[in-house]
Amino acid sequence: MHITYVLGTRPEIIKLASLIQASAREGLRFTIIHTNQHYAEQMDRVFFRELELPEPKHHLDIRSRSHGAQIGGMLAGIERVLQAEPPAVVVVQGDTNSALAGGLAASKLGIPVAHVEAGLRSHDRSMPEEINRVLIDHLSDYLFCPTANQAEYLATEGIQAGRVHVTGNTIADATLNYAETARLRSGILGTLGLNTGKYALLTCHRPSNTDNPEHFAALMAAVADIANLSGFTLVFPIHPRLGKQQRHAAERHRCITLIDPVGYLDMLALLQNAALILTDSGGIQEEACILRRKCLVLRRNIERPEALVSGGCVLPSSLEASELLAAASALLKRPVNWHNPFGDGLAYRRILDILKPTIDARH
Ligand code: UD1
Ligand code: UDP
Repeated sequence: MHITYVLGTRPEIIKLASLIQASAREGLRFTIIHTNQHYAEQMDRVFFRELELPEPKHHLDIRSRSHGAQIGGMLAGIERVLQAEPPAVVVVQGDTNSALAGGLAASKLGIPVAHVEAGLRSHDRSMPEEINRVLIDHLSDYLFCPTANQAEYLATEGIQAGRVHVTGNTIADATLNYAETARLRSGILGTLGLNTGKYALLTCHRPSNTDNPEHFAALMAAVADIANLSGFTLVFPIHPRLGKQQRHAAERHRCITLIDPVGYLDMLALLQNAALILTDSGGIQEEACILRRKCLVLRRNIERPEALVSGGCVLPSSLEASELLAAASALLKRPVNWHNPFGDGLAYRRILDILKPTIDARH
């Protein structure tokens, strides 16, 4: 019997890469179901190529829809595949609609579910991912937590301790594995005319930041102020959910350079050489801590408290321009003296060692 990996978005491809690579290397039988929640070349194929991942056996071609239609379409498609080819375990990662659909489809069929990056909580139910996380955790049989913090949350929610394992975050597997390759192979700094330590990197894709035009415009004005006062260019690889209006709101600031989403090697090169990172991304907060770059979190809450405790990331007290500016100046003065809290790059090893007996037992 085999492992089925269900994935659909950019961060899931990156954060499942080490598990998929090790499964292939170690001769484990496995299948990949791609929901195609993300489908643009730069949100999808580029990562399969760069991380040398095998082609998914199943493409569901769900793409962009309302959340209900998206999850419903995925659920039906994943169920069909799981019924035709029942696996020993279904592995999902994170908190996307694809992860929820994968977990739900498997649990309805009585197939064990393994959740990679379990136990994160922002305690903000207006965030679509928060609902997904809670549901996935409560239907999972194996909960793989990045740090002890998440195991503690899960205990307070009554999840059996025997299901919970602290393994580190698989983002550290990818980041540490590809950082050197990115240094050697990426030419993005030259292409964009950037110098190490002289630019800041911006990403922004959370609905809470992008969907209200006034809020988004004010946020862009605030980050442009930070860049202007520090003498930085602000490089902004834009997520495709940003429409014309948001692109225009960013582009009107001369210090902001908009670029298409970049592949993983270029992203690691941009992260490693930035003076400052401004982001509402979850994965980028983790990578900033791992790569020892200072990161201002453009959010009102956070589900990765260890990023703050380590000192690598700062959560401003509000997203008002004055608060962001004050937080950025304090962060720029802070020494880089933190330890990476997200693991040693071997999370995949601990996860596979726990899952292997299940796979054997269900032969
Ligand atoms: C999703 C996840 C979010 C994750 C993010 C990673 C959910 C609820 N959200 O958000 O947790 O942080 O992925 O990037 O699962 N689009 C394209 N091409 C693509 C993909 C998206 O044009 O290849 C555009 C479409 O207009 C689409 C919009 O982006 O409507 C949003 O895409 P969607 O997958 O629904 O959510 P994300 O914002 O990407
Ligand atoms: N990323 C990338 N290219 C980009 C933007 C992000 O390779 O143009 C990577 C980033 O380094 C991290 C992951 O994508 O590993 C994070 O994805 P995203 O911010 O879309 O999602 P989140 O982590 O917020 O769920």
